[in-house]
Amino acid sequence: MADEIKKEPPANFKVTIDNITIEVPPGTSILNAARQIGGDVTPPAMCYYSKLAGSGGKCRTCLVEVAAGSTADPRPMPKLVASCRTNVMDGMIVKNITSEKVPDARAGVVEFLLLNHPLDCPICDQAGECHLQDLGYDHGKAGTRYQFSRRTFVREDIGPYIQLHMTRCILCYRCTYVADQITDKRVHGIVDRGDHAAISTYISKAIDNDFSGNMIDVCPVGALTDKTFRFKNRVWFTKPVDAHRNCENPKCCGKATLWLRGEEVFRVTARKDEWGEVQSYDGKTGWICNTCRFDKKETKDWTIEGLTAISRHSVIGANKYKVLEVPDETIAKVMGGRAPQLTMDIHEVSGVNNPKVDLSELQRASKSSDFVQDPEKNWE
Ligand code: SF4
Ligand code: FES
Repeated sequence: MADEIKKEPPANFKVTIDNITIEVPPGTSILNAARQIGGDVTPPAMCYYSKLAGSGGKCRTCLVEVAAGSTADPRPMPKLVASCRTNVMDGMIVKNITSEKVPDARAGVVEFLLLNHPLDCPICDQAGECHLQDLGYDHGKAGTRYQFSRRTFVREDIGPYIQLHMTRCILCYRCTYVADQITDKRVHGIVDRGDHAAISTYISKAIDNDFSGNMIDVCPVGALTDKTFRFKNRVWFTKPVDAHRNCENPKCCGKATLWLRGEEVFRVTARKDEWGEVQSYDGKTGWICNTCRFDKKETKDWTIEGLTAISRHSVIGANKYKVLEVPDETIAKVMGGRAPQLTMDIHEVSGVNNPKVDLSELQRASKSSDFVQDPEKNWE
């Protein structure tokens, strides 16, 4: 009998997402493969959190179309799949922004997430950094078909640091994973089922253990907000700076973002990466302890490193330019060092640029007669 030739599985799997092919190790989820490509190709994620084991599979915002399962079995998957919970196979072809089905399905998911979510962004402390707000703008539809009253809950006090607004919760479970995996003891969870499911401490316990503040950082919506920061300021009026301190807690990374207004520290949070997740340092997630977060609210407690890099698409970065970057003058480069030959310099010729006419002084719209000829220049 001929020796059986055993085929070694490839060291890396080739996966094509929106016509871009990359190689990733086996066991990588479609979402994480897409994150390696980055940009619009990456599906949004409201419940998956790469630093929290077991997260994902709850919200369905990361749905994608699998047009070919693998090289060995190239049949398409019959339904859209949650990319955070589906691993890539060798030769898999995935469609996200190139899919005809995904936008509609995702808009449906957004509509479901917003069925009971109050549209209270103008008074919500998460506004400006809310993932659901961004998701609604990027993937939702303008209207709703829902005609019933939204869910309401009995208000529950969950402790001195964190404010719970259950009406805003999308039941992503991230905060329960934080409590399980980072704090000493979880005292809260999701109780009841279906329409009645709610975050609760059961019964009226205070969430005050040492790393519980990280629940605020992972909450994608305004369901868990910082009691020490609530209603103090809008996040886009503050100036975020990176800072560190020598924290004695061995589990605390001591690296944080301070949200300043002048010299005043309004809020301390962990530092976030481009996916809105807490950053990692040397392979370790940069969680911060409650002492750093809630008790060190003076700039002298910290060594300030500099301005936090904020995405240019974020409202938080509005009007906060680090340096004025003047674009490169490329004409000389393109022309091999030669200066362009101008047939006319518009700034020299146009009367509209007459520096003696101060347009802001006019109490009406300007007219051609305002641009009197400058006797020193030949405007003709
Ligand atoms: S409170 Fe926030 S983090 Fe916790 S389940 Fe609700 S939405 Fe998720
Ligand atoms: S991020 Fe994949 S299901 Fe929520």
